[in-house]
Amino acid sequence: MTLIDQIKEKIDIVEFISEYIRLVPAGKNYKALCPFHSEKTPSFMVSREKQIWHCFGCGKGGDVIKFLMEYEHIGFQEALKILAEKAGIEYTRYSTLDQKKIDLLYDLNSKAKDFFKQNLNSEVLNYLKTRGLNSKTIQEFELGFAPAGDNLTIHLMNLGYSADEIVSAGLAKIKPKTTDFFQNRIIFPIYNQFGKIVGFSGRSLKEKQQPKYLNSPETLIFNKSKILYGFHKSKAEIRKTENAFLVEGQMDFLMCWQAGIKNAVATSGTALTNIQLNLLKRTGVNKIIVCFDKDEAGINALEKYLENLAKMDFEILALDLGKFKDPAEAILSEPDFFKKSQPKPVFRVLFDFYIKPEQSWEIRKKNVLHLLSLIKQLSSQLEQYHIIQQLSLKTKIKESILLDELERIKTSPALSSNLVSKEKIPRIDLICQDLFSLAFSNKQFLPSLEEHQEFLPPKWQEILHGNNNQEINLLELRGDYKFQNIDQIEMEKLFQELINQLKIEFYKNQGEKLKSKIELAQQNGNLNELNKLLKEFQATYQKINLIKKEL
Ligand code: GTP
Ligand code: MN
Repeated sequence: MTLIDQIKEKIDIVEFISEYIRLVPAGKNYKALCPFHSEKTPSFMVSREKQIWHCFGCGKGGDVIKFLMEYEHIGFQEALKILAEKAGIEYTRYSTLDQKKIDLLYDLNSKAKDFFKQNLNSEVLNYLKTRGLNSKTIQEFELGFAPAGDNLTIHLMNLGYSADEIVSAGLAKIKPKTTDFFQNRIIFPIYNQFGKIVGFSGRSLKEKQQPKYLNSPETLIFNKSKILYGFHKSKAEIRKTENAFLVEGQMDFLMCWQAGIKNAVATSGTALTNIQLNLLKRTGVNKIIVCFDKDEAGINALEKYLENLAKMDFEILALDLGKFKDPAEAILSEPDFFKKSQPKPVFRVLFDFYIKPEQSWEIRKKNVLHLLSLIKQLSSQLEQYHIIQQLSLKTKIKESILLDELERIKTSPALSSNLVSKEKIPRIDLICQDLFSLAFSNKQFLPSLEEHQEFLPPKWQEILHGNNNQEINLLELRGDYKFQNIDQIEMEKLFQELINQLKIEFYKNQGEKLKSKIELAQQNGNLNELNKLLKEFQATYQKINLIKKEL
């Protein structure tokens, strides 16, 4: 038995997916809100019987492996590995070259982490303590120190790794000579969502040493834009509360964690990416609380986040840090700062910043237009209107005028491209899709479908008679999804209607073919042939008209 078969034998798809999203029984299947696109009514279906899932909204689907790949944004081999581990199957026997490279990177990172931890000296520890971190947090997040020189490289070579391997993990550099990548830096291991170390972030000790934070280069396992620092620890609480605090820095995250705010994540100074937001969305987050400071830079950061957050229908709140520069500083001087503070809706904060009673009309006008451009980014028009109402109250400018101005602002192409472009499927295939879905999920229709097979395009005849179980399974699930709420009589009507449409489409295609033959016969002056074809053509359209009368 292959590894894939073994995994599927041991892991039930319904149970597995239930660990990620809430499944609700729907007949013999289960349904849910799709975790891969934003929707209000469930189109995501899971079949226990067939061990497959499919979203009839966005078109994604597959088996348990595919689900994990999509959900965690990981490759096939990585998904296999995780599932094998879960199923208690020894994976190494099956591993491929790529997976070996990945394993090597994890190995090297783990060894490097141990080395950094061992090098945590009293000077660095003192620094961390002055920043407010206690030993428990330092240990829990495995902070360390990278000394200057080539100590780590030599250490790893002594353990049997080659220089190439160490460089490929981003732990050494060769130019101008081989030295450690991180030198004289406090090391924060960066974990993926499974808690495995994929890279490091090193903070300089001295003001002069630039950059302040140095990150591992990207590797097979490290892609900064996919990582949220701390998420491997906070995801449980995030799932539970459906809220997440969004902070910028590793230090901010650690201080939050230590102060009992267990549902935070840090972006590590990057712009929020869709992948990161998806990670939060599918963990069940509804509300994101952005922590910011009140100066212009803080407001700018808030606006930068807003653009991405608004697209994804999160409720966005902002937590005012008052006189503090970042969450780390706030908690350092007031450990229960977060627990005391009340987050506000983000637009309230922005209105307070931009609309001041004493400002001149010139400035007021400029700021109102700026606010409108932010409001325009919200994906829901109702939400837009709701906020316009508030802006109107605040500025005493009439709602209708604000709405007119809003109307005039052009939506950026980046926002409208969010809509999935659907490729066009020929009408006959759409009909066959429905027909087959209906017949496979309600097998009493199969004999009748067989009777009409002459009208099916070759591709669909093959599906009917072939043994492509995957295709048939999917059609059946689609049928369960699409036709679950209609009664027997309606279903019969629908089936008959689809058969009739199939026939019409069939005869139309026949008619088209006859047309070209007729043209050819005309060109060749073949009158006998032409007469025969014209009769056939007429007969074909009579058939179509007959069927149309039935409809
Ligand atoms: P501390 O001074 O240690 O508290 O850092 P901070 O978190 O206050 O730093 P800052 O607010 O300047 O930046 C926020 C986050 O952006 C940091 O935690 C880093 O993740 C990231 N960052 C800051 N400086 C750099 C840099 O020079 N290079 C890179 N790649 N990232 C940086
Ligand atoms: Mn800071």
